[in-house]
Amino acid sequence: MTTDQKSKIVLVTGGSRGIGKSIALNAAKRGIGVILTYNGNPEKGMAVADEINANGGKAVALKWDAADVSSFDSFADQVQQILKREWNRTHFDYLVNNAGIAQRMLIKDTTEAIFDELVNVNFKSVFFLTQKLLPLVADGGHIINVSSGLARFAFPGVAVYGAIKAGIEALTRYFAKEYADRRIRVNTVAPGAIDTEFGGGKGDEAHRQQIASMIALGRLGDADDIGLFVASLLSEDSRFVNAQRIEVGGGIFI
Ligand SMILES: NC(=O)c1ccc[n+]([C@@H]2O[C@H](COP(=O)([O-])OP(=O)(O)OC[C@H]3O[C@@H](n4cnc5c(N)ncnc54)[C@H](OP(=O)(O)O)[C@@H]3O)[C@@H](O)[C@H]2O)c1
Repeated sequence: MTTDQKSKIVLVTGGSRGIGKSIALNAAKRGIGVILTYNGNPEKGMAVADEINANGGKAVALKWDAADVSSFDSFADQVQQILKREWNRTHFDYLVNNAGIAQRMLIKDTTEAIFDELVNVNFKSVFFLTQKLLPLVADGGHIINVSSGLARFAFPGVAVYGAIKAGIEALTRYFAKEYADRRIRVNTVAPGAIDTEFGGGKGDEAHRQQIASMIALGRLGDADDIGLFVASLLSEDSRFVNAQRIEVGGGIFI
């Protein structure tokens, strides 16, 4: 493990559960200070911060609703105040855009309301949160956007979700281009099938086995498969990796 992360700070959206929780915990294990967000589960968000603080790390949990872009300016102000108060810093180093929702629906059944909700929470929020937080990201920082294997391969029922995640991957390259003058790296991590509560979970044993049979490593991923990788990718060990999509799925549909 490198020591370059000891004085760094990461902001992880959706750090209350699943993959985001694991990213927050594994970042803290590397000595990184953590600002994590929660939305509908404040007690879970606080519990993750408490766990980090109890284990010698430093973390703050903040409420952030991806669906409410009008609140992002005041959220950025809050982050600025927390940085000053808790770390005596004006900037943070890493941003992980992880929060997201799933909606399974065939194209023929997809309503405008479902479409808009998916776009707002999974795409619009990533664009505008990153835009508004970039003044607080240190030069030479690193942004990781969480996509999905479903941006590469297609399943019935997730057309809008998969297309949005493909958009996130394009957005990653554009952010990397426009913020290159500040040496900010922007990469995409695309998880495969990960065993979290996402979209109601991965179903019964038969369904899970069916998914596992599509994965070269023969099992579903767990949250730590992603959390460990993201925490390591943030470090200077990957200092020349920029504008890339890295799939972390055990070899799904290869
Ligand atoms: N699990 C998979 O198989 C899989 C595969 C590929 C990609 N991904 C991606 O990985 C990311 C994390 O997924 P996960 O599996 O960890 O899901 P999860 O266990 O359902 O956790 C979702 C997280 O997002 C937060 N969130 C949901 N809606 C939000 C909103 N409107 N505003 C702010 N935060 C919100 C939740 O916060 P609260 O609980 O506090 O509301 C929670 O922390 C997502 O971007 C997802 O698309 C997951």
